[in-house]
Amino acid sequence: MATKQDFNDRMLSLGLARVSEAAAIASADLIGRGDEKAADQAAVDAMRTQLNMLDIQGVVVIGEGERDEAPMLYIGEEVGSGTGPGVDIALDPLEGTTLTAKDMPNALAVIAMGPRGSMLHAPDTYMDKLAIGPGFEHGVVTLDMTPTERVTALAAAKGCAPSDITVCILERPRHQEMIEEVRATGAAIRLITDGDVAGVMHCAEPEITGIDMYMGQGGAPEGVLAASALKCMGGQIFGRLLFRNDDERGRAAKAGITDFDRIYTRDEMVTEDVIFAATGVTDGSLVAGIKREVGHLTTETILMRSKTGSVRRMVYRNPR
Ligand code: FBP
Repeated sequence: MATKQDFNDRMLSLGLARVSEAAAIASADLIGRGDEKAADQAAVDAMRTQLNMLDIQGVVVIGEGERDEAPMLYIGEEVGSGTGPGVDIALDPLEGTTLTAKDMPNALAVIAMGPRGSMLHAPDTYMDKLAIGPGFEHGVVTLDMTPTERVTALAAAKGCAPSDITVCILERPRHQEMIEEVRATGAAIRLITDGDVAGVMHCAEPEITGIDMYMGQGGAPEGVLAASALKCMGGQIFGRLLFRNDDERGRAAKAGITDFDRIYTRDEMVTEDVIFAATGVTDGSLVAGIKREVGHLTTETILMRSKTGSVRRMVYRNPR
């Protein structure tokens, strides 16, 4: 088994960008066609093919689902050529299947990679999430605070009024009370219909995206992907797993989780340095979506390494 020292993230990162690019490109002809499943399947197939070309001994930690419900890129699937470093992989070939099918903003192809054992094995349940960008004292906002307290604390730390804060929240009936409470503070809310990996990432570049804080319940796997992104971009994320029934508790137990009430910090979800790539599928504030023109496609990918904090934006013109 390869050791941690073999995790040559500098070279692997370029390979990782090709993996997210391939997934995005495969879904290009399905943007705006109303078929979420076909778009997802195309992205999954392409991501897997490209991933298997990398010289890694990879294990999918965050994937498309359990082995019996996902034929490809299931949790525990071994990927890569089988030579090279042992790595954990978190992926979502199409984060925002509905956004893609409806050609709405911020659908991404996403993948993160770290040394073996570096990522939380989050079950496919919900997670209560709270995220802010870089430059704040650790714990300035916490999951245990009420939405009002979070807005007030962040505004004080930023030296602005609550009305200068914008919070991103998934538009769901379960968030109605939270939305009303945040609005009552005077803060603005950017409601999104899907795609909370992008929602969290938006907090890391508030001057570009206009978003200061993300809060609410979304997928736990997406929480680990978002933690990987913030580990590279800077910023804080807190997550607490949520369980609706015994089946979900069973999934968590199977993934090795014993404390069901634990609040995970960013560095507890992702314990070592990682690399992260996301390619825009539909247009977004962080990366442009795929442009389809006669004879070629153009993609934009954000490629990041937590070890150095480097953030690359790569534009790729692909003949077809
Ligand atoms: P998919 O791309 O798998 O459809 O997920 C999109 C998403 O919006 C995630 O970003 C988010 O974490 C989750 O779904 C929210 O789940 P729900 O739609 O059940 O509220």
